Amino acid sequence: MERVVLALIVVATITALPLVQCTADDPMKVAHWFHAVLPLAKEKTTHLHFYLHDIVSGKNPTSIKIAQSPTSDKSPTLFGIVEMIDDVLTVGPDPNSKPVGRAQGIYGYAGKDSFSLLTNMNFVFTSKEYNGSTLSVLGNNPVLETYREMPITGGTGAFRLARGIVTSKTYSLNITSGDAIVEYSIMVLHY
Ligand SMILES: *[C@@H]1O[C@H](CO)[C@@H](O)[C@H](O)[C@H]1NC(C)=O
Ligand SMILES: *[C@@H]1O[C@H](CO)[C@@H](O)[C@H](O)[C@H]1NC(C)=O
Repeated sequence: MERVVLALIVVATITALPLVQCTADDPMKVAHWFHAVLPLAKEKTTHLHFYLHDIVSGKNPTSIKIAQSPTSDKSPTLFGIVEMIDDVLTVGPDPNSKPVGRAQGIYGYAGKDSFSLLTNMNFVFTSKEYNGSTLSVLGNNPVLETYREMPITGGTGAFRLARGIVTSKTYSLNITSGDAIVEYSIMVLHY
């Protein structure tokens, strides 16, 4: 009987702790999460949807060229150009709609014969339950295709041990300025 009560108290204590921790924890809390919370946690599926604003033009671009090869300008596919981004993510396609985070990272034009971007970025979320949590994306982004699929390689906070798939679709592209709005739909497995 005593053992049952003790076991119940232990379970109650563990489940009373938040399953997700969005801001960075000290190492002891992270260790506790792995030892005590994770074994009882059930993997769940979350669908995220937002729009990314890639601004290359004007006085305040969120996407800037940081490197290129001497031959990149002559390449029909811009092969060798590398851009650093800190793009705003919003709930709707309107840039003035509610912001939910930023996409921070690097993309490089990796295709000699096609517009094929090596995309390496982190979604850094700032809204509600995902505030402070991140998802990491590393993949091939053939930007002229209607849909592009990229892997989620991990995450932090609410997305510890995350895996999943990102689907991106260009919502609009201003050919004059180069600015683009990209729709993102994410299916992510996490705890
Ligand atoms: C997100 O977290 C930061 C840092 O803890 C805090 O300053 C900010 O107010 C939070 N934002 C929201 C929308 O909860
Ligand atoms: C496209 O960009 C150009 C140059 O910045 C701007 O003048 C024009 O208004 C933009 N078009 C749209 C539809 O936003």
